[in-house]
Amino acid sequence: MGKMEGKVALITGGASGLGAEDARVLAREGAKVVVTDMQGDLGRAVAAEVDGLFLEHDVRDEARWHEVVAETIKAYGRLDTLVNNAGLVRFGTIEALPYDEFRLQVDVMLGGTFLGCQAALPHMSKDGSGAIINMASVGGMKGISTIPAYAGAKAGVIGMTRSIAIHCREQGNRIRCNSIAPGGIVTPMTAQALAQLPQDAAGLDQIQNFGMGQPIDIANMVLYLACDDGRHITGTNIVIDNGETAG
Ligand SMILES: NC(=O)c1ccc[n+]([C@@H]2O[C@H](COP(=O)([O-])OP(=O)(O)OC[C@H]3O[C@@H](n4cnc5c(N)ncnc54)[C@H](O)[C@@H]3O)[C@@H](O)[C@H]2O)c1
Repeated sequence: MGKMEGKVALITGGASGLGAEDARVLAREGAKVVVTDMQGDLGRAVAAEVDGLFLEHDVRDEARWHEVVAETIKAYGRLDTLVNNAGLVRFGTIEALPYDEFRLQVDVMLGGTFLGCQAALPHMSKDGSGAIINMASVGGMKGISTIPAYAGAKAGVIGMTRSIAIHCREQGNRIRCNSIAPGGIVTPMTAQALAQLPQDAAGLDQIQNFGMGQPIDIANMVLYLACDDGRHITGTNIVIDNGETAG
């Protein structure tokens, strides 16, 4: 029997990279999976691959969040796991990055995670199987001069995750809330970023020194936190970076 048998998972940004791999791993372990994304064609393909449901959704859209949660429960009867994974990165130092690019990143990653938790929490399974997993980054733990807005949004995700976890404990509802902070992982996002950046760009040497991980390295942790193996873990940030932030 799979570790996610009988559970339902909703994954944002599930059309690509880490989110798509999360969908595959959770479905392989028996979960019913709802994939959401702005990229319709790719999202539908991932949902078809995992025999799940695709819902088009921009995570900045608050009203659509409530529809997505309602459609998930209508389709599969419950919601156990929410993976707030949708994200994007825009490069530019504090002096160069336009304010609208700052707002875009904060709105998608910090705002989208806030809206997702707010919409989903009242409807999530409260019997101990409820788990929220927010995708942070090592960028939210250490400074990277070329991505101040991304780093700020991800630091916000880490802080917000802890506060939600404490709230759930205070409510006695046994929903766990954790974040994961990956280092560099091979996905379309990093392929695009590496192609755009000059070879001497700040932060690149770090990635090259510590090597790139694969989406499965993150998806295995998403599974651990989502299933009963992770039942005693809440309010923490799990770093998966091959030692990048160790010293
Ligand atoms: N790849 C890495 O090295 C790395 C490292 C640390 C953290 N992360 C984080 O992991 C998450 C996934 O990244 P990835 O590398 O798989 O990138 P990716 O570009 O492959 O996938 C991100 C997905 O998010 C979707 N998305 C973007 N904006 C959205 C919005 N407003 N609403 C809904 N969906 C939206 C995109 O369409 C895309 O399908 C992101 O939050 C990213 O910040 C990635």
